[in-house]
Amino acid sequence: MTDQSSNQMWGGRFAAGPDAIMEAINASIGFDKRMAAQDIAGSRAHAAMLAATGVITDNDAEAIREGLLTVLSEIESGSFQFSTALEDIHMNVEARLKEVIGEPAGRLHTGRSRNDQVATDFKLWVRDQFDAAEKGLLALIKALVDQAEAGADWVMPGFTHLQTAQPVTWGHHMMAYVEMFGRDLSRVRDARARMNESPLGAAALAGTSFPIDRDMTASALGFDRPAANSLDAVSDRDFALEFLSTASICAVHLSRFAEELVIWSSAQFRFVTLSDRFSTGSSIMPQKKNPDAAELIRAKVGRIFGANTALMMVMKGLPLAYSKDMQEDKEQVFDAADNWMLALAAMEGMVKDMTANRESLAAAAGSGFSTATDLADWMVRVLKVPFRDAHHVTGALVAMAEGRGCDLPDLSLEDMQGVHEGITEDIFTVLGVENSVNSRMSYGGTAPAQVRAQVKRWKEILAG
Ligand code: ARG
Repeated sequence: MTDQSSNQMWGGRFAAGPDAIMEAINASIGFDKRMAAQDIAGSRAHAAMLAATGVITDNDAEAIREGLLTVLSEIESGSFQFSTALEDIHMNVEARLKEVIGEPAGRLHTGRSRNDQVATDFKLWVRDQFDAAEKGLLALIKALVDQAEAGADWVMPGFTHLQTAQPVTWGHHMMAYVEMFGRDLSRVRDARARMNESPLGAAALAGTSFPIDRDMTASALGFDRPAANSLDAVSDRDFALEFLSTASICAVHLSRFAEELVIWSSAQFRFVTLSDRFSTGSSIMPQKKNPDAAELIRAKVGRIFGANTALMMVMKGLPLAYSKDMQEDKEQVFDAADNWMLALAAMEGMVKDMTANRESLAAAAGSGFSTATDLADWMVRVLKVPFRDAHHVTGALVAMAEGRGCDLPDLSLEDMQGVHEGITEDIFTVLGVENSVNSRMSYGGTAPAQVRAQVKRWKEILAG
C-alpha cells in the first residue's frame, strides 16, 4: 500500500509523500496556471483523437471533453482550487476532471505524457504572444508612419555622436524607427512560422505504441504539422528562446527611441511635448513633467534581455530529452511577454499623443553649423575644388563663425571670399536648412520627397 499522502498521479511506487521543501521546489502551479486554457484545449484535442482512433470510446471522450469545459469555466470564474501538492496545471486539471466526471478521466492520459503536454501548452501560449507582439508592432508602426507623414518636411538637426551633424527631416527620423520595428515584425513572423509544429503525441520521449493520429491533434490546435522527432519535440525550447531574443532586439529598439524622447522632451531640447496622459509630475517640484513612460520603456530591455540570458543558460548543456530544468522556462517568458506587450502599447500611446515642436526643431536644425557639408559640397560641385580642400576651407569658415558667435549663413560674402576667393553669392542658397534637406534626394535620403515615398510604401504594407 502506498502512503495516503503520496501523489495520486504517480504515487504508485512511492511509500511516502514529498518533503515540504521538495514540494516547494517542484511545484510550478503558482505560475503555470496561466496556461490553463491551452492545457484544456490540448487535452480536448487529444481526447477527440483518442476516440477517433478507437483508443478510447466515444462516450468516454465526450465525458472528458465536456468535463474539461466545466473545469475551464471553474478556472475562469476563479472558483477553482489550485493545489501545490498537485504540482502543475496538468495534474491540477486532470485531478479536478476526475472529481467532475469520475472514471473516464483516467483514460485521458493514454498515449501522452506531461512532457509533450507541457511543450504543447507552452507553444500554444507563446504562439498567442507572437500574435500579440505582431499586433502591437503594427500599431506602433502605424503611429510612427502617421507622425512621419505629418512632418515629412519639418527640419531638425540630425546627429552623430549626439553632436549636430546635418539637417534631417522629422519624417525621416520617424521612418528610421519604422524600419527597425519593421524588422522586429519580420522576426516575429518568421519565428512564429518556424515554431508552429505540434509536440503532442511525442509522449514522454519515444512516441507511443497506441495508434494515435498526430496530424489530427496538430490541425485541431492550429499547428501546421506534427514535430517530426519525438525526442526533439519534448526537449525543444527554441520557440521560447526565439521569442525572447526577438523581444530583446525589439526592446533594444524601444529603449533607443525612449532615450531620444527623454532627451527631446527636456527643457534643453524642447523638440517634443509628451502628452499629460503619458507623463507624471513631481511631488516637490511643481514645474516638472517627467517622461516616466519613456524611462520605463528604456528600462524594460533589462528584464527582457535578462529572461533571454536566463533561459539560454537553463537550456545550455541539457541532455536529451526532457529534464525538469525546463520548468524554469515559463516565468522568464511570462514576465518578458507581459513587459514587452506593455512597452509596445506604451510607446504606441506616447507616439500617437506627442507633439513635435516644429519651431524648436527648425531653430535647432540651423544651429551647430549643420549645413557645413552643404557648403563643402557646393565648392566641389560649382568650383570643382577637390573635396578634401573644400573640407579644409569650410572648416576655416566654421571656425570664423564660431569666433564671432554666429551661424554660417550670417557670414558676409566678403568674409567668405577672404578664405576662398572663388566663393560667390550663390553659396547662400545651400546654407539654408530647407535647401539642405531638399537636396538629399538619394534613395532613402532625408529629402521630404524621399520620406513621402517611404511613407507611401509603408502604408501599402500596413494595408496588407
Ligand atoms: N511542470 C512540468 C514543467 O513545467 C511539466 C512536465 C513535467 N514532466 C515530468 N516528467 N516531470 O516542465
